[in-house]
Amino acid sequence: MAKFIIRGGNQLSGTLEVKGSKNAVLPILCATLLAEGEYILHNVPNLRDIETMNKVLQALGITVEKIDNHSYKIINDGVKSVEAPHEFVSIMRASFLVMGPLLASQKEARVSLPGGCAIGARPVNYHLEGFKKLGAKITMDHGYVGAKASKLVGTEINLPFPSVGATENIVMASVLAEGKTVIKNVAKEPEITDLCNFLNKMGSKITGLDTDTLEVEGVKELHACEHKIIPDRLEAGTFIIMSAITGGKIRVDGADLNHLSGFLEKLEEIGVKVNQYGEIKVGELKPVDIVTEPYPGFPTDLQAQTMVLLSMVDGKSTVHETVFENRFMHIMELNRLGCNIDAHGQVATILGKVNLCGAKVEATDIRAGASLILASVIAENTTEINEIKYIERGYEDLENRLKAVGVDIVRVE
Ligand code: UD1
Repeated sequence: MAKFIIRGGNQLSGTLEVKGSKNAVLPILCATLLAEGEYILHNVPNLRDIETMNKVLQALGITVEKIDNHSYKIINDGVKSVEAPHEFVSIMRASFLVMGPLLASQKEARVSLPGGCAIGARPVNYHLEGFKKLGAKITMDHGYVGAKASKLVGTEINLPFPSVGATENIVMASVLAEGKTVIKNVAKEPEITDLCNFLNKMGSKITGLDTDTLEVEGVKELHACEHKIIPDRLEAGTFIIMSAITGGKIRVDGADLNHLSGFLEKLEEIGVKVNQYGEIKVGELKPVDIVTEPYPGFPTDLQAQTMVLLSMVDGKSTVHETVFENRFMHIMELNRLGCNIDAHGQVATILGKVNLCGAKVEATDIRAGASLILASVIAENTTEINEIKYIERGYEDLENRLKAVGVDIVRVE
């Protein structure tokens, strides 16, 4: 099993380029199940999760060809299976997003039910309620969810919570439905807007992008298209924190800062400013209270990394996690590196300023792993990060990219 060995304390400088958004490309890959033809996708990051999704598509009969380092040709010459096997859904929950497009284009889907994961139970009840309202019959057997419909008919769906995955799955299920579907209380993450832009390029009629309500006027037919994926705001946020905790000499290039408003507002309150060129200015640091929220609020996917920054701030900060019920797995590992973080229920208290010292630690999910990388870059001595398969699900080639800005990092198999 691979691990990272990082010797902390180096002076870092240079530029980190932000790659394409993992969370945008995953649903877009699923959307290619909606219509036959040849799709071209640009700015696709090289990640484990993309490889997994490509395998899911291949299992359904879709051909995936890499045409250059960050571009793919996806050929849909007819979906050949409607079953997404457990071996993929169990390692990546986003595989469940094939259900909506399969139901829309094939009128049938059978997808392994995702289990819980390190950050919580993560059920799919909102997705299934949406499919039911569109007219699908849902069944469960042997750990698989089945959905079938002779036809899907537009309706009104009110999501109990603005779930990212449910919004994406239901939008994809409704684009070929008869009549109009109105989906209320949708998630507004930029990845959803990217998916809707992609679907509209395919011929869908979706309005209300970036608002709480999406209106989908069903169409009879869709077609393939070419699309460039938006930059990854979560990778950008991680790199901005790396720059902030190492004195601000790293510039973060290629991010769309409009997608980071909730995060950047909190950073300014802490004393870290990012300008339009991706340059980071570190002032006097102050403790803050953070509450994670659906977009445009402070992202749950940047809370673990921000705890490392807050550990460098004199005083007491808090992070209240409201999106997931069990997303503090990184705290024990960060404390092993010298952080002083205490969690009670959904609230973590971070006491700073601390000195960090290298140890052997384990990544438990993508962002928890990213927080360990950040801490190890400023820790004294050497840190060994195990289970980096989680980190590699969401960050491309960190060894070489971080080496280029001065991090003493080695990836060991
Ligand atoms: C997506 C992101 C993930 C991010 C999360 C929240 C992808 C591939 N992943 O995950 O990185 O952390 O959004 O921004 O884009 N819920 C239910 N029932 C449902 C669906 C969700 O109860 O049917 C709950 C979940 O358990 C969770 C909350 O809603 O507590 C938010 O989940 P959701 O927005 O759906 O997250 P994902 O789409 O899984």
